[in-house]
Amino acid sequence: MASSPSLLVLVALLALFSPAVLASGREKRTHVRVYVHEQFSGPNATVVNVAPSPFGANSTFGEVGAVDDVLRAGPDPSSEEVGRYQGLFAGADVADANYFAAITLVFTAGEHNGSTLSLQGKYTFPEDEGLERPVVGGTGGFRMARGFSLLTVVSTPPEAAVYQLDLFVFTPRRRY
Ligand SMILES: *[C@@H]1O[C@H](CO)[C@@H](O)[C@H](O)[C@H]1NC(C)=O
Ligand SMILES: *[C@@H]1O[C@H](CO)[C@@H](O)[C@H](O)[C@H]1NC(C)=O
Ligand SMILES: *[C@@H]1O[C@H](CO)[C@@H](O)[C@H](O)[C@H]1NC(C)=O
Repeated sequence: MASSPSLLVLVALLALFSPAVLASGREKRTHVRVYVHEQFSGPNATVVNVAPSPFGANSTFGEVGAVDDVLRAGPDPSSEEVGRYQGLFAGADVADANYFAAITLVFTAGEHNGSTLSLQGKYTFPEDEGLERPVVGGTGGFRMARGFSLLTVVSTPPEAAVYQLDLFVFTPRRRY
C-alpha cells in the first residue's frame, strides 16, 4: 500500500517543492500574509471615490478612486500595523463592476519593514474563491520580485471591510 503509484507521485512532488530544494534554486520564495483594513466612510475613510462614472450611478465605467488602507498583522483592528495598501483604481469595464487597480504595499514594520511590493491588475470585489492579482515588482528586500496575490474577505462590518491578503513572492537569490 505504501508504494502505490499515487503516493509515490505525491512524495516526489512534496520533495520537489520542499524548502531544501527551493533553497538550492535561483529564486527564493516568500509567503507574506497581511490583513487589509478598509474604511468606506467618515473622517477616517481609507478609500475615496474621486470621480463617478459619467454614465451615472448604475455604471462604474470611468469611475476613479484612491485607497490608503491599513495593513495589519491580523484581522483584529487592534492588531499591529505593518504597513499601508496605497493606490489608485479606475472602472475599466463597460458592462460590469470591474476595475483596473495599481497598488503599492508599503511595509513600515515587521520583517519586511522598508520594502514595498507592487500589485497591478483587474480588481473585482472578492467572492468566495478570492481574487487573484499579479505581483509585478518590489523594492528593498523585494527588488526584482514577481509572483501573485490572493485576496479574500474576512469580514464586512458596517462601512468597512477586512480582507486577508496572501502574497507568494519570488525574488532572485543573487542580490541586485
Ligand atoms: C479617527 O482616527 C482617530 C485617530 O486614530 C481617532 O482618534 C478617531 O476616534 C477616529 N474617528 C472615528 C470616527 O473612527
Ligand atoms: C439604475 O437602474 C435601475 C434598475 O434598472 C433603475 O430603476 C434606475 O433608474 C437606474 N438609475 C440610474 C441613475 O440610472
Ligand atoms: C522601520 O524602519 C524604519 C527605517 O529603517 C525605522 O525608522 C523604524 O523604526 C522601523 N519601524 C519598526 C516598527 O521597526
